[in-house]
Amino acid sequence: MQADLLILNAAQLLTLASPGGPKRGAAMRDLGIVPGGAVAIGDGLVLATGPSDQLAHQVRAGRTLDASGRVVMPGFVDPHTHLLWAGARADEFEMRVAGATYMEIMAAGGGIMSTVRQTRAATLDELVAQTRPRLERALAHGTTTVEIKTGYGLNVEDELKQLSAIERLREGFPGTLVSTFLGAHAIPAEFNGRAGDYVDLVVEEMLPAVAALGDPPPFCDVFCEDGAFTLDQSRRVLQAARDLGFGLKIHVDEFQPLGGTRLAVELGATSADHLVCTPPDEIELLARSETVAVALPGTPFGLGHHDYTPARALIDAGGAVALATDCNPGTCWCENMQFMIALACRAMSMTPAEAISAATINAAHALGLGDRAGSLEPGKRADMILLDAPSYPHLAYRFGTNLVGAVIAGGRSIQ
Ligand code: NIG
Ligand code: FE
Repeated sequence: MQADLLILNAAQLLTLASPGGPKRGAAMRDLGIVPGGAVAIGDGLVLATGPSDQLAHQVRAGRTLDASGRVVMPGFVDPHTHLLWAGARADEFEMRVAGATYMEIMAAGGGIMSTVRQTRAATLDELVAQTRPRLERALAHGTTTVEIKTGYGLNVEDELKQLSAIERLREGFPGTLVSTFLGAHAIPAEFNGRAGDYVDLVVEEMLPAVAALGDPPPFCDVFCEDGAFTLDQSRRVLQAARDLGFGLKIHVDEFQPLGGTRLAVELGATSADHLVCTPPDEIELLARSETVAVALPGTPFGLGHHDYTPARALIDAGGAVALATDCNPGTCWCENMQFMIALACRAMSMTPAEAISAATINAAHALGLGDRAGSLEPGKRADMILLDAPSYPHLAYRFGTNLVGAVIAGGRSIQ
């Protein structure tokens, strides 16, 4: 076999192989470990994985890379971010630390609306220029697939501007970007007291305009929450989106349980995200469904809250759990999936192996990319990272520094 690159002698190769769909329940603890493993890469794809002595005989490689003493594993997939924004909200962080709640700040016209004002005021070039360093930081911390939501435009023109910005960011990004339309992120100030009219705008104008783009985003998301969109409004937006061919995502139970998890399962959403105060019966329902549960532990951490997604219960009930950063200027400005793994083990009682499955293969399934990303299996994109650590638990055990020593995206060495 002829390969462009052959990585040899990994202390541990984690394949995360999972041919039948996301890893569910106990299967999340199986990382597909090959001690002394090797990966052959050609045309930007994984050609083969196996023990180094075996592949060294079978493969003729243009270049070899010695991974002695290092873990080799798939690049992280971050399936939930609000990475695209202008400005910052450090002032609100100070207010929150002094006792104001996130929802109080939002009700007073700050929060998401503050970022909407700053994002609307930014030109397309400014928006791209402010976001690109965040994307580069994500990549430097090992994330090779990133989902990016709109939702700081909240009118037709500025939502489309956000989608154009994602297209621009895609140029020059060696990994994969997935866009999600989140026109139903907040009720903009000009629709104060007229939430129904704003939902009409989303359903009747924004969604058709977005669906008519040459390369429409694969997903539509809604923030189902007190102070944002009710259960009925969320259903209306998501049903309209589904009719137009969008895959569905939904922010549910971040602060108040409104029944959004049941709705996600009913509508066959690709993922249900946040799930902090989800009632036990809906946790069971979700765990038995095809909808991936996305936990965002950086958000309660960023808010200084003590309640996290009941990931343990979801996994024990046989569910497929994924992790994401939720990177956004309000609740969690963190581009680093390694920190989410460290938090998942401490705040949600996940094991290091479960957290790694959640940050790779299950996160890929939360984006409908289970056939292309999230594991090192022949035919998948050659997106992988080399950790400066001899075994996978280091990824959870250590925190606050970057353990990623090298990133390979689409078969190319990035750093
Ligand atoms: O997922 N919950 C809604 N949206 C984001 C926060 C966005 C913001 O505050 O700007 C979240 O936490
Ligand atoms: Fe979010």
